[in-house]
This record gives sequence, C-alpha cells and structure tokens, in this order.
Amino acid sequence: MDEPADVERVGVVGAGTMGHGIAQVAATAGYDVTMRDVEREYVDRGLEGIDSSLERLAAKGALDEEPATIRSRIAGTTDLADLADADLVVEAVIEDLAVKRDVFADLDGIVDGDAVLATNTSTLSITEIASATGRPERVVGLHFMNPVPVMDGVEVVVGERTDAAVVEFAHGFAEEVGKETWESDDKPGFVTNRILMPWINEGIRAYDEGVATREDVDRGMRLGTNVPMGPLELADHIGLDVVLDASETLHEELGDRYKPAYLLKRKVAAGDLGKKTGEGFHVYE
Ligand code: 3HC
Repeated sequence: MDEPADVERVGVVGAGTMGHGIAQVAATAGYDVTMRDVEREYVDRGLEGIDSSLERLAAKGALDEEPATIRSRIAGTTDLADLADADLVVEAVIEDLAVKRDVFADLDGIVDGDAVLATNTSTLSITEIASATGRPERVVGLHFMNPVPVMDGVEVVVGERTDAAVVEFAHGFAEEVGKETWESDDKPGFVTNRILMPWINEGIRAYDEGVATREDVDRGMRLGTNVPMGPLELADHIGLDVVLDASETLHEELGDRYKPAYLLKRKVAAGDLGKKTGEGFHVYE
C-alpha cells in the first residue's frame, strides 16, 4: 500500500455536534476543510456552532488566529462530490450502520484512491463500515469526544484490515489537531464507550430505582470520584438518543450486562433527548 499523502484538505461528512467540532479543530490546525450535510439548514447550523465555539475560545485567548481567519478555511456544502480532493475524510453521520456504509461506498467512488476514510463512530464496527469500500486498508476509526474543541483525547480504532501506516497516520492527524490519542481494537464500544455506557446506564437505574435523587446521583459521582459530570448530566450532554443507540449496540454484541436502562428508552420515546431538546434527566433553560 502507498503511504497516505500529507493532509492538506480535510472533508467532514455530517455537520452535527461531532462533525462541526471536527471541522473546527481541523481548520484551527490550519487545514482547509469542506463540511457536508444533507440539508443546507444543517450545514448552516453547524457553521453557527463553529462560530460560537470559536468566539468562546477567542474570548479566553485560546486561539492563535482570529476566528474569521479560521472560519475562512471552512466551506459548507450539501454535495458529497465537493469532498473529491480531500486527503482525509472524517465521517460523523448518525449511528446507523446501513447509513454509514452507504456514505462510505459513495465516498469510495468520489475521493482519490490514496485518501484515508475515517469514521467517528462511537460503537459500530470499523471493519463492517470499511467493507463497504474497495479500500478497507485505508479505513480507520477516529473517535473524537464531545465537545470536540475542549476534550483532549481521540480514540484511534483499528479495523481488521486497517493498514499499520494508516493507523500511524490517524494518530499523527489527531496530534496535529491538538489531541492526545489511545488505540483500541475494533471491538464493540472500543475502550471508552464499552466502559462509559454501563456507567451511565447504572446511574440511570440508580435514579430510577430510587437509590438517590437525580441531583444526588450526579453529585455523588462528581464529588465522590472527581469526574466533571455525573452519569445523568453526561447522558444529557451526549444526547440520550446517542446513548441509547450505543447501549443497544453493546447489548446486542455483548449480552445482558449491557442492557439499556428502561427509563432511558422511555425518555427517548418521549422525545426528551437531553440538552439539545431542553429536557432529559434535567431541565435546561
Ligand atoms: N467550544 C469552546 N469552548 C467550550 C465548549 C465548546 N463547544 N464547551 C465548553 N467550552 C469551554 C467553556 O467556555 C469553558 O471555558 P473556561 O473554563 O475557560 O471558562 C470550559 O469549556 C468549561 O465549560 P463550562 O464552564 O461551560 O462548563 P464545565 O466546566 O462543566 O465544562 C465540559 C464543560 C468541558 C463539557 C465538562 O463538563 C466536561 O469535560 N464534561 C465531560 C465531557 C465528557 O466526558 N465528554 C465525553 C463524552 S463521551 C463521548 O463523547 C463519546 C461518544 O461516542 C459518546
């Protein structure tokens, strides 16, 4: 396999929370970025998210350049073909294997054969996503954490066919955008979500079974273990729909110890998805 090219242009598929965060950190590191979503409205919302995050970072002197300069390196589009000249594409669409496989099959036909295709999936198999392309050795997991501009780490996930040079490339790119990395084999939930999801679900069960109020479940874990957020507020922060999707994948693959909490399913069914809808386990102004 030819070594992956040096990255100049980065494509991002999906302008949601993770996609626009990834576009932002790539542009901040100096890359030209094209961010694509299916509707112009989603692209514009993603660009607005980048603007407000860059303003926050600029206000505390955390940027080397003006927000407008960084923003000028990011183009929004609804046309996947606009990613044709990217050296690296990072996919961050919904956590649905069929949807991701379709995106990868399309990208495979559009993007130069030497380009690396990365997925930000939180629990789905890199190998299954890669097999939708004719270049599985150039497909890798680049699992960013939410909120992308603030979190220090990226999980590099190695699929069955991922080439060692592509793994090294993935670590190098993550470091270029200011992150530290760790590596996981392509097993359900990788390192982070395999451990995080049962923690969150146990927090939900503890609240639902009356062990403590929702405030005290969060306070107990925050004060008792020095984490920035307790399990219920972290679930709200991630989005309860994302937590449920990840929990269901883990349950399916790893059995009953990963069964999602009943109350999580009930909240998602009611449309209370956390911060993004104004209510999850807590209520947000
Ligand atoms: N852009 C820029 N800056 C941001 C930001 C954003 N999107 N979000 C927060 N910040 C900044 C704030 O401006 C603030 O800066 P300051 O300290 O200089 O004033 C700082 O981050 C802290 O923010 P807040 O004061 O608003 O609130 P907190 O102190 O509670 O911090 C948090 C917010 C950084 C989100 C912190 O609570 C935290 O680290 N929580 C845990 C997050 C976590 O675990 N993420 C991983 C989730 S798992 C995942 O993503 C994997 C997926 O597959 C499910």
